Amino acid sequence: MTKDTALATPELLRRLLSRRALDDDPGLGPQLIERARQLEDVVFLGRGDPDLPTPPHIVAAAKDALDAGHTHYTPLRGLDSLREAIADKLRRDNGLRADPDQEVLISTGTQEAVSVAMLALLDTGDEVILPDPYYLSYAYAIRYAGGRPVTVRTSAETAFAPDPDDIAKAITPRTKAVVLLTPNNPTGAVYPRPILERIAELSLSTGVPVISDELYEATAFGGAEHFSVGSVPGMRDRTITINGFSKSYRMTGWRVGYMVGPSPFIKSAQKIKQTLTICAPSISQHAAVAALRGPQDSLQEARDVYAERRQAFLRRLH
Ligand SMILES: Cc1ncc(COP(=O)(O)O)c(C=O)c1O
Repeated sequence: MTKDTALATPELLRRLLSRRALDDDPGLGPQLIERARQLEDVVFLGRGDPDLPTPPHIVAAAKDALDAGHTHYTPLRGLDSLREAIADKLRRDNGLRADPDQEVLISTGTQEAVSVAMLALLDTGDEVILPDPYYLSYAYAIRYAGGRPVTVRTSAETAFAPDPDDIAKAITPRTKAVVLLTPNNPTGAVYPRPILERIAELSLSTGVPVISDELYEATAFGGAEHFSVGSVPGMRDRTITINGFSKSYRMTGWRVGYMVGPSPFIKSAQKIKQTLTICAPSISQHAAVAALRGPQDSLQEARDVYAERRQAFLRRLH
C-alpha cells in the first residue's frame, strides 16, 4: 500500500465504510454553526452549552477526588454513592422510585445513555416514535442501532406538545418505544401533565415503552412545571428515564448522565455501555455526587438568568 492509505481515497472509503457511516447527511446545521462563529454580534444558540460556570462546590469536589486518588475505573454501573444520590433525587423531585443497585446506570454523558438505550432495544427495522422537531442525535442513535425514526409533527398551535392521538396512529407492530423530550430541545416545550398521562395510558394499553429524556428538567421556568411520565401509576416498568448533569449543573464538559429503568433492561444496557466506555469518568462522578448532595441554589440562579434573557429577547422582538 502507498503512503495514501485506503481510508484516504474516496472510492475505497465508499467501499470500506459501513452503510451507517456513509448514510450520514449532516444537513446544513454544521455549516450554519461555522458561519455564525465567524460573525461578530451574533449570539451563538446552536448548542445547549450553558455559559454559566460549573458551581464552585462541584469543582472543589472534583479537586478533592483527584487528590484522594480517585483516578481509576469505578464500578461499571457507576459509583454506589452517585446511584444512591440519584435515587434520592428521583424520589424527591420526580416521584420516581428506583433501586440504586439494580435500576440506575451511570453513563458517559446523557448522550451515551441515548445510544445505549437504542442499542439495547432495537433490531433492524424496528421503529421509534419521535415528536418532531427533535434533538438530532436521537434520529442518529436510532438509525445507528438499525432502527427507523417515525416522526410525529408538533406545532406552535399546540405549544409543540405531541398529540397522543397522533402517537397512537403511528404505533405499528414494529414500534419499540416512544421518545419524549421534556422540557424539549429544540422547541423549549414543557409537556403538560395531562398529555403525558394520556401517553402513559397509551403505553399501558399497547405495551410500548416510553423513553423520557428529562435533561432540561431544571431549566423549566415561567410557570411551566416539569412532570416525569415514569411517575404515573403502572409506568415504572415501562419507562426508561434519561437525565444528566450537563444542563442543570452546567457540567457539559464533565460527561456524566444516567438512565433509570427496570432492572433486566438496565442489566442488558450495562453490557452495551461497558463495551463503549467501560464506566463514566471517575472524577466527574465524584463531582456529580457533590452536585446532587450539595446546595441547590445554583439551579434557581440559572433559571433567573435564563428568564431575564428571555425577557430581553422578547423585548427586542416586539
Ligand atoms: C435532549 C438532549 N438529550 C441529551 C443530550 C446530551 O447531553 P449530554 O451533554 O448530557 O451528553 C442533549 C444535549 O444537548 C440534549 O439536548
